[in-house]
Amino acid sequence: MIFDSHAHYDDSKFDGDREQLLPSLAEHGIGPVINVGSSLEGCQKTAALTEQYDFVYGALGIHPSDISDLTEESYQWILQKSQLPKIVAIGEIGLDYYWEKDEASQRQQRYWFCRQMELARDTGLPVIIHSREAAKDTLKLMQGIHSEQIPGVIHCFSYSLEMAEIYLNMGYYIGIGGVVTFRNAKKLKEIAAQIPLERILLETDAPYLAPEPKRGKRNSSLNLPYVAEEIARLRNITAEEVIEATAANARRLFRM
Ligand code: NI
Repeated sequence: MIFDSHAHYDDSKFDGDREQLLPSLAEHGIGPVINVGSSLEGCQKTAALTEQYDFVYGALGIHPSDISDLTEESYQWILQKSQLPKIVAIGEIGLDYYWEKDEASQRQQRYWFCRQMELARDTGLPVIIHSREAAKDTLKLMQGIHSEQIPGVIHCFSYSLEMAEIYLNMGYYIGIGGVVTFRNAKKLKEIAAQIPLERILLETDAPYLAPEPKRGKRNSSLNLPYVAEEIARLRNITAEEVIEATAANARRLFRM
């Protein structure tokens, strides 16, 4: 079975067919799925989805673009809900300087990233990290709080092979999704070919980042075979090997 380590089925783009789509995934060889919260409302819906579907597990955390949702009260809510048995990670958390250029807002992002990393340390859960155009600050902050002691994945990895190696040395996994199928994704193809297979997780980031040949359309876990096939092609192994290894990796990281 294909393990989707990162999807957002709480997103309103699935409002029209969520109830049909999710139950159909298993017959296409997909499951488990980790639904990843990004806003506070998304986290509440994530918790509900984990109750509704056996194969859906959850990650709770506030995305850097949604940190206005974070207060001491909502932080406590996440802390409390993260004890639920099907909540397997804190995420997605991190820094996004692509969408946020303002220095004061970037400082806020760093503050809440740090707080949520500490939350992961306190709860013993792994983290799902989002980092976009913030390579230096993400690494500096993570090294500052000794994140080599906090297991996790760098989701939708968009940096260099050198940077991937630094995270691998810290014990982190690398999340790879639809972007690896894009013709111009040279760096990511190189990473997918070279890093140890035991450290790769498959992810969709659905509804975003659909792989070729579905690029630009709404993404779902049904498109993960395209990603597995591309990683297999780059490594000269079979898609089945990629699917099996990445599922074992996800179970190891998320302790399932
Ligand atoms: Ni995401």
